[in-house]
Amino acid sequence: MGKDVIIACDFESAEKTFAFLDKFTDKKPFVKIGMELFYAEGPSIVKELKKRGHKIFLDLKLHDIPNTVKKSMAVLSRLDVDMTNLHAAGTTKMMQEALVGLTRPDGTRPLLIAVTQLTSTDEDAMRKDLLIDKPIDEVVMHYAKNAQVAGLDGVVCSPLEAGKVHEFCGKNFVTVTPGVRFADGEVGDQKRVTTPAKAKEIGSDYIVVGRPITAAEDPVKAYERCLNEFIG
Ligand code: C5P
Repeated sequence: MGKDVIIACDFESAEKTFAFLDKFTDKKPFVKIGMELFYAEGPSIVKELKKRGHKIFLDLKLHDIPNTVKKSMAVLSRLDVDMTNLHAAGTTKMMQEALVGLTRPDGTRPLLIAVTQLTSTDEDAMRKDLLIDKPIDEVVMHYAKNAQVAGLDGVVCSPLEAGKVHEFCGKNFVTVTPGVRFADGEVGDQKRVTTPAKAKEIGSDYIVVGRPITAAEDPVKAYERCLNEFIG
């Protein structure tokens, strides 16, 4: 599994995204397009970034009835992204149907990853808001196993859980981990966070880093710091 740093391009427009990515003169970072940018610009932003040579994680976190997710994934598969995702909370059946929809007629497909629990959710929120009484680790591992049984490639989880997911689902089951912060940086709304170096130690395959890079004074330097800490 190729380890990499994925930059979360949480921008409101294509213009702002290009202005940000134009700073990276000699590298083409793996980028994540989330809801904000996709809803603002639509499929054209994916096509444009692909044309510019970026690998793309399309982070739309689908969660709906199985048939709707299947048909939506079929549309997304035509965008030729490298990775996309859904919520494991949508059930094993929904994940199986998603995989069917995502698979192109020639049998190829992007990596499909399941969100377990958002890294902004902690055990207290799970208990009080979602009425889930189990320990968060148990919930994350259960959702990861469901995703694996459904045939998915891996999960989005906190870097703090990546080691345990690998123990539970095997080392080839991909862990994509947001909630990454520099030791001397701001945490913001994220709750279950760690540093790129610690994420490497625990065994994340891909770290997703947004504001520590996008809001940095020198984003290229912050990206390189991430690469150095995470890949070495
Ligand atoms: O700015 P920050 O580094 O917190 O960005 C993290 C990115 O990862 C955001 O785009 C967020 O939507 C995404 N994400 C997350 N937790 C998940 C799944 C995705 O923070 N479980």
